Amino acid sequence: MKILVTGGAGFIGSQIVDLLIKKDYEVVIIDNLSTGKKDYINDKAKFYEADITKEIDLIFKKEKPEIVIHMAAQVMLRDSLENPIYDAKTNIFGTINVLESCRKHNVKKIIYTSTIAVIGEPEYLPVDEKHLGKPCSPYGISKYTAEHYVRAYNQLCGLDYLILRFGNVYGPRDDIKYKRVISLFIDCILKNKIPSIFGDGTQTRDFIYVCDLAEFIAENINKNSKNKLFHLAYGEQISVNEIFKILKELCNLKENAKYVQAVKGEVKDIYLDISLAKKELGWNPRHNIKQGLKETLEYVQENLIKT
Ligand SMILES: NC(=O)c1ccc[n+]([C@@H]2O[C@H](COP(=O)([O-])OP(=O)(O)OC[C@H]3O[C@@H](n4cnc5c(N)ncnc54)[C@H](O)[C@@H]3O)[C@@H](O)[C@H]2O)c1
Repeated sequence: MKILVTGGAGFIGSQIVDLLIKKDYEVVIIDNLSTGKKDYINDKAKFYEADITKEIDLIFKKEKPEIVIHMAAQVMLRDSLENPIYDAKTNIFGTINVLESCRKHNVKKIIYTSTIAVIGEPEYLPVDEKHLGKPCSPYGISKYTAEHYVRAYNQLCGLDYLILRFGNVYGPRDDIKYKRVISLFIDCILKNKIPSIFGDGTQTRDFIYVCDLAEFIAENINKNSKNKLFHLAYGEQISVNEIFKILKELCNLKENAKYVQAVKGEVKDIYLDISLAKKELGWNPRHNIKQGLKETLEYVQENLIKT
């Protein structure tokens, strides 16, 4: 079976590609390498350096994939505040372009990777799949709009889909360029710099280890479940202060972080109800935050030695 992965050179996409190839799927990648890395591209995958907002139709025509995992996106919430037009172009127009190619070339199913940023400030916790979205950042709005397009293509032309909404993903191949809290903390700690915490650090998120996510998606790619939305996270509320405390212990650090002004567009507290994915898909993430952070730290340390 042939699977096309948009964003297959990225942090999460490249790890899904590696596992799909291990399982003997034929994999085609479309990625413009704007944030993805050549080094992460599995050499057994067929790679097209192309932009999802431009001419990708010929690639679909030539490759005829059965399943598309659509991960290519502008993924940085903070950057979306500064450049909402680029964000919308990539995440909304790019998704429509991918959907059009799916429609024209008889793709059976699209798996769209979305984010909990579509919810905005939650009305209740944990946030289940029925919770209405009121996104408060351009990134949340563009990803939410794209979810609607994915559903509409199912209703209008029968393209099957799964929408998978992730919590905050962390782990190997995360990079400080994404400005995510865990990679920034680890980078500062290993360079003997003092990490900054935005706001008072009591804000909470639902952190999910990337390998759990990648294994699960690769394992379930060909299962029957379709035309539904699922939340994939660890299902636990962890504060930024707790993350720092665990890393401090793991690194035997004495210094404290410094506190700086909170960022606009970011919610105070959020975590996800993952019971639907557990019940219907068998979702069962293996790494709790301590195990995940320990493995992430080991990965970063090993890579520092190599470079
Ligand atoms: N990392 C997280 O915490 C997180 C959380 C929720 C959802 N997601 C979603 O998961 C997906 C993957 O995110 P990631 O964290 O791996 O980020 P990433 O930036 O590493 O991956 C995105 C990939 O898409 C590529 N890309 C970007 N714009 C493109 C374009 N116009 N044409 C072709 N390729 C393009 C990039 O080069 C990159 O390889 C995204 O859809 C994101 O919204 C990520």
